[in-house]
Amino acid sequence: MKAIHTAVFPVAGLGTRFLPATKAIAKEMLTVVDKPLIQYASEEAINAGITNLVFVVGRTKNAIIDHYDKAYELETELALRHKDALLDVVADVVPDNIHCVFIRQSEAKGLGHAVLCARPAVGDEAFAVILPDDLINNTNGNGCIKQMVDVYAQYHGSVIGTQTVDVSESDKYGMVSGPKLSEKVARVDEIVEKPLPSAAPSDQAVVGRYILTPAIFEKLLTTERGAGNEIQLTDALAELRKTEEIYAYSFDGRRYDCGSKLGYLEANVELALQHDDLAEEFCSFLKKLEL
Ligand code: UTP
Repeated sequence: MKAIHTAVFPVAGLGTRFLPATKAIAKEMLTVVDKPLIQYASEEAINAGITNLVFVVGRTKNAIIDHYDKAYELETELALRHKDALLDVVADVVPDNIHCVFIRQSEAKGLGHAVLCARPAVGDEAFAVILPDDLINNTNGNGCIKQMVDVYAQYHGSVIGTQTVDVSESDKYGMVSGPKLSEKVARVDEIVEKPLPSAAPSDQAVVGRYILTPAIFEKLLTTERGAGNEIQLTDALAELRKTEEIYAYSFDGRRYDCGSKLGYLEANVELALQHDDLAEEFCSFLKKLEL
């Protein structure tokens, strides 16, 4: 079985929950403390041994492409000023062995359609999909995608990242159910996009991390528009499940829903409290707030 070399980052959504901030930039360029969301995601992929980064971009593509491009003027200026540490920070966004590909999704037809757009750059291999607006922080261990790459190596099938949610929130998520195979891995017998709480198959929600076999592309080709009138990855996974086993993995780590304002603010506060240069002062600032 081949290792996972490629990660797809669908970043062509409209980001309506963050307007007007997302009028001219993708929400994945919003910063948590000092890094854009997209960079947390690309670092998670790189730390899992992935070397091909495929960005599916939309109308607000420029800032993302620029972030992963060489910044000649800035780097020359920093070199002249002997700001070596900052030069490293800028150069480290794309380490030497990493290849970036940008593909245009001309219309935001949904996550499933965005993943299908990546097909020419993925080829006939299993690949990772990372939604950068789900920021997953696992301070003391492997990143979420590295954990899932390991599960893929053990089970040889598509793997979906999941977490337990309150069933009253099921209509915000893809929901899965199936028998447990180990403490953290279950077989997916049912997967449904945004069911009403009364129809939710369990309290296990899909979050923005997937390892997918290339068979998903054939399913996506015939997936009709579903919830929200969008082509849903969940619906293609429901079809894939009929021909291949799919696994749900309950990852280690804290997930922040940075597609929502509250989740984004929580991420900023908690990651600032873990930041080497900021933690102490920021903590004293928070303590002074009269809440
Ligand atoms: P969301 O469901 O969060 O949608 O997309 P959105 O449009 O980005 O944000 P809101 O709901 O309007 O605020 C989940 C992921 O799928 C990508 C998004 O960029 C995000 O990473 N996506 C969604 C696409 O790349 N293309 C699409 O057509 C839809």
